[in-house]
Amino acid sequence: MTNRTVKQIFSAQAMPEGQGVTVHRSIGRRGLMNLDPFLLLDEMDIAADAQGAGFPDHPHRGFETVTYMLSGKMRHGDTAGNSGEIGPGDAQWMTAGRGIIHSEMPVTQGERLRGFQLWVNLPAAKKMIAPRYQDIAKNQIPTLKGNGFEAAVIAGDMDGTTGPISEVASQPLFLDVRLTKKGSITLPITLGHTAFLYGIDSEFSIGDTHVKNRNLAILSDGDRVTVSGDENTRFILLAGAPIGEPVARYGPFVMNTHKEIMQTLDDWNSGQFL
Ligand code: CO
Repeated sequence: MTNRTVKQIFSAQAMPEGQGVTVHRSIGRRGLMNLDPFLLLDEMDIAADAQGAGFPDHPHRGFETVTYMLSGKMRHGDTAGNSGEIGPGDAQWMTAGRGIIHSEMPVTQGERLRGFQLWVNLPAAKKMIAPRYQDIAKNQIPTLKGNGFEAAVIAGDMDGTTGPISEVASQPLFLDVRLTKKGSITLPITLGHTAFLYGIDSEFSIGDTHVKNRNLAILSDGDRVTVSGDENTRFILLAGAPIGEPVARYGPFVMNTHKEIMQTLDDWNSGQFL
């Protein structure tokens, strides 16, 4: 048994994204472009009075996008014919594969929208697979209740409880954990997988390292992590198998080589993208 410790901390940077949206980006920015297999982590925040703000039609190729809602409602629509609305505690796992164009827009006016968007890379062999979409309602996500904590298991496995998101290349673990009393909990993580924690309006400690709100804590290797904090401390824990391939990235396209990016832009410009 090896306890993971905090290897590095990155504070999220506020930046504009989509149409009138501010995101706090921790992965996918200068200084931390990739955290194999993760390509991006945004904490989204759309103000209640932000008229017309959201993410109108835009393409993706070569990876998967994961949306997890904290508050408000968002409507998704894509060129593979999928549509759906996700609200607090709901998740959406979209495999862009060879290409998809989608939009993500707030449904209700006058309600603040908050959530996470995560990009997870695909290995070269799967970058051009057909797009796929998994829409997961909160009531399909099991909550594991233990001594001093509860954990929603969105993807992966925790102590025999398995999340509903399946058949994803990076074998992700995605937990939303809340401490129900002041104290500490120990969570299992697969040895060798990349792992990080990020607070939800919360700060917490891992060993002697204190992690502030809107800070990404990247963990060293090991098979578990012990997190301590006050009552109602809440955070997400993500882990996934590193892919170990070169990453060539251009906006919403993530391939292995510059040549593949040029091909993608050609496809886009000549109407061959989908
Ligand atoms: Co998108």
